Amino acid sequence: MRGFFISFEGPDGAGKSTALAEILKQIGPELKTQYVVTREPGGSKIAEEIRKIILDPKNGEMDDRTEALLYAAARSQHVAEHVLPELQKGKLVISDRYVDSSLAYQGVGRNLGIEEVKQINDFATHGLQPDLTLFFDLSPEIGLSRIKKLRPDQEDRLEQEKLAFHEKVYAGYKEINKMYSNRIVEIDASQTIDKVVADGISAIKSRLPELF
Ligand code: TYD
Repeated sequence: MRGFFISFEGPDGAGKSTALAEILKQIGPELKTQYVVTREPGGSKIAEEIRKIILDPKNGEMDDRTEALLYAAARSQHVAEHVLPELQKGKLVISDRYVDSSLAYQGVGRNLGIEEVKQINDFATHGLQPDLTLFFDLSPEIGLSRIKKLRPDQEDRLEQEKLAFHEKVYAGYKEINKMYSNRIVEIDASQTIDKVVADGISAIKSRLPELF
């Protein structure tokens, strides 16, 4: 028996985590399937430890390949320990970020190449892909300014990167969204939160009607 896997993606500050919580609040009671919510980097004890190393602003000397491998290592543990067993039980697993984040941030943002980063992630995840991905589409200028307003002086190592890095990541996402247009739905995250949530729910209902 196999469940369903949905990932949420987007640039920093796009509001995907807020939207995720609100979407689940609204559709949770209607779902036929039991669901679990998780996040990356993290989602299991070992992966949360790796997350601290990756995001710590003190680790400024981290090599780009080390960074990509640490994200993949955290993901490997998360998938093996949490995502796959829940899917095997027939549950719906919803993850705040997954492989597309690595393709955009490390593959394009860090210039490691989408194909190269995909290869290490296929190894890490046994090739597990989401059934559906919601991409929260917001320009990096607006996303970063939201973060600065919401949490001044608390940026993690990735958020501290310059706007030029985040613009590359955004362009990377747009390329990936085209490559996997059968699975990725873009949602305009510059709208009001109510509209963003409504668009997210209608994407889930139309793409995965079996859940309701
Ligand atoms: P997090 O605090 O979870 O950010 P957000 O709330 O925006 O999801 O930090 C995750 C950071 O790590 C974020 O800047 C995106 C980045 N990231 C990667 O670079 N590669 C990855 O594979 C993942 C999962 C995240």
